[in-house]
Amino acid sequence: MPAPLASSDRPAYITTPIYYVNDRPHIGSAYTTTLCDVWARAMRLDGRDVFFLTGTDEHGQKVEKSAKERGMTPQALADENSAEFRKLLGPFNLSNDDFIRTTEPRHESQVQAFVSRLLASGDIYLGEFNGWYDEGQEEYITESRAKEMDYKSPISGRPLVRATEKNYYFKLSAYQSKLEAFFKANPEFVRPAGRFNEVLGRLRDGLQDVPVTRTNFTWGIPMPNAPEHVIYVWIDALFNYATALGLGDAGGALAKDRAKYWPPEYHVIGKEILWFHAVIWPAMLMALDLPMPKCVYAHSFWIRNGQKMSKSLGNFVDLETIDGFFAKYGVDAWRWYMTTQGPLGTQDADFSDKHFHEIYTAQLVNTFANCASRTSSMIEKYFGGAMPAAETASMPVSSAAGAQGWSAFTAQAAEKTRRHYEAFELAEAADTALSIVRAVDLLINETAPFKLAKDPANLPRVAEILAACAEGVRIAAVLLSPIMPAKCDEVLAAYGSTLGGGGMTDAARWGGLKAGTRIAKCAPFMRVDAPVA
Ligand code: MSP
Repeated sequence: MPAPLASSDRPAYITTPIYYVNDRPHIGSAYTTTLCDVWARAMRLDGRDVFFLTGTDEHGQKVEKSAKERGMTPQALADENSAEFRKLLGPFNLSNDDFIRTTEPRHESQVQAFVSRLLASGDIYLGEFNGWYDEGQEEYITESRAKEMDYKSPISGRPLVRATEKNYYFKLSAYQSKLEAFFKANPEFVRPAGRFNEVLGRLRDGLQDVPVTRTNFTWGIPMPNAPEHVIYVWIDALFNYATALGLGDAGGALAKDRAKYWPPEYHVIGKEILWFHAVIWPAMLMALDLPMPKCVYAHSFWIRNGQKMSKSLGNFVDLETIDGFFAKYGVDAWRWYMTTQGPLGTQDADFSDKHFHEIYTAQLVNTFANCASRTSSMIEKYFGGAMPAAETASMPVSSAAGAQGWSAFTAQAAEKTRRHYEAFELAEAADTALSIVRAVDLLINETAPFKLAKDPANLPRVAEILAACAEGVRIAAVLLSPIMPAKCDEVLAAYGSTLGGGGMTDAARWGGLKAGTRIAKCAPFMRVDAPVA
């Protein structure tokens, strides 16, 4: 487990990529935003002051082209599709603190201010580009890379087009050794490690200056000193992370409230946009003398039944498909699947209806819901729905766990969960929290309180067992709440509890459930029919 990135009283800033408005939202965009949401909720639960940013990337040739095809202005297209992305936030239960649009004046004026600073420092200069351009990705490609790519876009497969333009350039080459030194000193700057190695490998080829303006279209932010040039969409977009906090307008009102969040703890992105975030963006920040983000986390891709999702195959897990999952399994089951089964490592992850169903049934119905429900119904049956009075802190967890008592076991699991969340090891956080539920399950199976209860003389022992189970369920619900906020709230409410406001460790401390607390029957996840293959 990597060392914690920052002390827990530091404000925390996490960002998603800003999504292109010429596409509709789908599993990919919803995935990255959900991961960031889980982290943001976990850090808030831990008492940190969190700022969680997402938004839309609205300039560029592609948007101009799509708008033309549809007979509308680029702004109208951007408004329409940005609203689609915003609509997603409620149903997915995403708790972002702001939603930035790159066509907003607050963003545009700050980008111009940043670019003016880079012009003044000589980091941006006028020159001529001769090379290649990937139209789909809106990315300039040097001759040597184009050759490696066989003059085709690795993303769309379409041929690269020749590009010769008089452009403004960013002096990326001047930052080669500074970047190398920075990467060496920060071995966790890019995660997972395999992705960092890819960046370092490409860095060894040597950095060339990159164009930062275009003149062959107009849908972009005008260059402050030369308005016939528009700022290249990628440069414009990367700045969103800083403009949302007002950093381009240092004395302004936005910066007054938000500058404290800089630098970001995590820029979470997909693997295809790593170079921009791991190399170009840090070099720009160095040129602007702004502190570096702590980590760029590049996840891999969701694929569908073993195949890459693409428009031409028509196999995108789109919002309509996701709606079907919401209707059948609920949004929290969706968030659980995204968090625990997603492509957080260097491998792509396959999205299949069957696998989704299996995970739902095994982990949510048979484990989490089953424990919450068995415990609450037995408390109802044997103790009239009131938390039994019993000393449980040092009661052994199970025969397998040796002498370790419940209080020590859950404290250890809670701390481990907390650290996993903090380190963006979200699937591990989920599994560690769920291990408490598995221990409750084992306790019930090993001690069979439903059998013991047949003899009234055993009631003190049954009280002890069920009190431990209830407290275990409560703590698990606290720790799982960043992933499944609505369902965990439901369980906590049934168990007469709340998340409290004292931090994750406090909320998860053994003994939170006082004797006599009303415990209502609950069944947070219900069995549903398996999908037809
Ligand atoms: N606008 C740029 C990002 C600028 S950030 C300063 C962009 N936008 S995008 O709309 O294409 O979104 C890309 C992001 O969507 C990826 O980085 C990733 O986070 C997410 N995904 C898109 N397809 C995906 C999958 N199939 N699987 C997982 N996530 C993927 O690039």
